[in-house]
Amino acid sequence: MERQICSGIKLAKIKDLFPSSSLFRSRGVVVKMPGIVIVGTQWGDEGKGKIVDYLAKEADCVVRYNGGSNAGHTVVVGGKTFKFHIIPSGVLQGKRVYIGNGVVVDPEVLLSEIENLRKEGFKPDLYISDRAHVVFAFHKILDGLEERFKGSLSAGTTLRGIGPAYSDKVARFGIRVADLLDESELRRKMDVLVALKQKVISQVYNGKETLEKEEIVKKYAEFGRKITNYVCDVSFAINEALDKGETVIFEGAQGTLLDIDHGIYPFGTSSNPTAGGACTGVGVGPTKISKVVGVAKAYTSRVGAGPVPTELMDKVGERIRIKGGEYGTTTGRPRRCGWFDAVPVRYSIRVNGISELILTKLDVLSGINPLKICTHYMVKNKVVNDIPADLKTYEECKPVYEELEGWTDSLDWHQIAMGGYEALLPQAKTYIERIEELTGVPIKIISVGPEREDTIIKD
Ligand code: IMP
Repeated sequence: MERQICSGIKLAKIKDLFPSSSLFRSRGVVVKMPGIVIVGTQWGDEGKGKIVDYLAKEADCVVRYNGGSNAGHTVVVGGKTFKFHIIPSGVLQGKRVYIGNGVVVDPEVLLSEIENLRKEGFKPDLYISDRAHVVFAFHKILDGLEERFKGSLSAGTTLRGIGPAYSDKVARFGIRVADLLDESELRRKMDVLVALKQKVISQVYNGKETLEKEEIVKKYAEFGRKITNYVCDVSFAINEALDKGETVIFEGAQGTLLDIDHGIYPFGTSSNPTAGGACTGVGVGPTKISKVVGVAKAYTSRVGAGPVPTELMDKVGERIRIKGGEYGTTTGRPRRCGWFDAVPVRYSIRVNGISELILTKLDVLSGINPLKICTHYMVKNKVVNDIPADLKTYEECKPVYEELEGWTDSLDWHQIAMGGYEALLPQAKTYIERIEELTGVPIKIISVGPEREDTIIKD
């Protein structure tokens, strides 16, 4: 009975209390809403870290399903800023946090994050999939060499070894977390992998680096010993949690436009940040996902290369960058900023099956007048409403804007957040409601500052 009420179709009909509570009340029966995917609808950096932390209060656990330490999820609690590259954002709420098989794990980064959390007085209740692939130092070397070789086709990666690690996974050369726990197995696999990587570094790219197999085996076997207590079958654990009716947040890293299949290829990452990645990257069936929630920033930002039709190369773009602190969490690079673009968000809604949106960083737009929103593109006198597959057409897309009245800079957003949706200025409400109209999806939460409390629940 409970399972039936939890089905996606039924949930859509129940008065949606999300997210103030993950519990739904239907005819007096309290029903848990088990699997929620949080996905980025733009080029990453939408503020998913804050949102996952905020929602995790009501959840039982959080599981990361894609990417690696290329991600940078920022959470601000009590004026203190925490940055996570690999550990799921729910960790600060004291919830169980899982790293799924779809993630590529750099053990060095992972151990340093665990250590930093401990220093801050947190005891992470962390579980790592035995099937997750490992990022080795040579993957980072290769990331740099490949980027250089690609020239104008380089994506401007984070140089965290993400592409090379996923390449090895797909080519079946990869080494998984389970292999780190067995030194002789690790050595057997390294015999092949190190030999191959050395050839690629020296003979393909003329790189000078020399790989010492035994040194690598010893170093990573030691990492294995340090993480062994966290390793488990995450698919089993998450399915069990869902079957018990627990609420599980599937935390996506990066965004839809960076997706290896649905993003702006080849200017994206090597994993699936899209909602489908939550199933393959954790090991749950699509029937276990009740809801897909998209996170969209109130403007556009992009770190790295590739076309961004609404990019602003002027003072407004600079103002947004400075006010929004738009510098890469992982690399420190300045992010390219621009007007809100409804086209990628609509596209994300389609490829992810998003039923509601969370809008972040609305406060950053204060003091800009007028504001612009891109409603669609034009290419050679033709209207384009979607993301074209070929790069050349996307590069030719000219944004078509509509103007909206902005609002004053002198606002106390903390106060507004306390007052709720009604406390927003009419211009800000018009901006939000216009995005709802253009995307066809309701905005349920609005984030107006980095702290947990700077969050408005609409409806
Ligand atoms: P990679 O994931 O490091 O291989 O980088 C591929 C592309 O995705 C580059 O353009 C990066 O700047 C971008 N990218 C990777 N991770 C993130 C992220 O977490 N936020 C925003 N952009 C990212």
